[in-house]
Amino acid sequence: MNLDSPFPGDTVTTSAAARVLRGVEELRAALGPARREGRTIGLVPTMGFLHEGHVSLLRAARAECDVVVMSLFVNPTQFGPNEDLDSYPRDEERDLRLAGEAGVDFVFAPVVEELYPDGFAAAVEVTGGLTSVLDGDPARRGPGHFRGVTTVVAKLFNIVGPDVAYFGQKDAQQAAVIKRMVRDLDFPVRIEVMPTVREEDGLAMSSRNVYLEPADRARAVALSHALAAAEQQALARDSLDAGLAAARIELAAAAIEPEYLEARDAETLEPVEGLAGRPILVAVAAQVGGARLIDNVVIEPLAG
Ligand code: PAF
Repeated sequence: MNLDSPFPGDTVTTSAAARVLRGVEELRAALGPARREGRTIGLVPTMGFLHEGHVSLLRAARAECDVVVMSLFVNPTQFGPNEDLDSYPRDEERDLRLAGEAGVDFVFAPVVEELYPDGFAAAVEVTGGLTSVLDGDPARRGPGHFRGVTTVVAKLFNIVGPDVAYFGQKDAQQAAVIKRMVRDLDFPVRIEVMPTVREEDGLAMSSRNVYLEPADRARAVALSHALAAAEQQALARDSLDAGLAAARIELAAAAIEPEYLEARDAETLEPVEGLAGRPILVAVAAQVGGARLIDNVVIEPLAG
């Protein structure tokens, strides 16, 4: 059965339905028996409009955990005033079908007031370099974006109590920030970061790809080509500068001016000089037509 998916070739078939829960107490009650029996709970936080990247997280959770919870919540606190909160793509019916197919047991889909009741005044924040660079630079999305992410993810961890939570490598900075929050605040959860899922031509899957007009969709592939060139040239010439220069050439050829194209320590996001010693994150962000796209590659350290 084809559900008019926005993703070409994406066919949706019926399968066991996931149980949809809207309330915090309702979800806690539903998870109570599993928790008492010591069964493992996996959580996949999402903002919906699922694509194969999300589905890969759901499959990993299904393979590793006894109970799988997917949250479906477009979190207003992580959107800036000029960002796309109102127009963020939504299709709950399709998301629920895909969640069911992937074997999700519970979908937690609260309304905004359930997570942010009147008078809500708390926040969870990872401060410092992890949240003030790249997307966290105040001239870009800013640290407030990550404060919104960590606040809602901390709430989800407290509500669901997962043993394992799954995130995508495409949002590398988000993953690094969440790992630091978990470490620093002693959340009893293991964070799994799964590889970026790409279209056949290399474009990283993203719910926001739906904003791309055909001509911009064709140009957008330059981001992944640029990252591949960065990795190849950096390793071939043992030089991050050479890698970044090769990436800039790929972007310029597609008339893409990056918001940023930077190499940083993959864990701390501190600036780096050379390739030796630790994994290096090369991250890029660019506005391509109507979509702000991000992507990254991690270059593993050279021996010696
Ligand atoms: O990556 C996302 O979709 C969101 O940032 C997350 C982790 C679901 C929090 O709203």
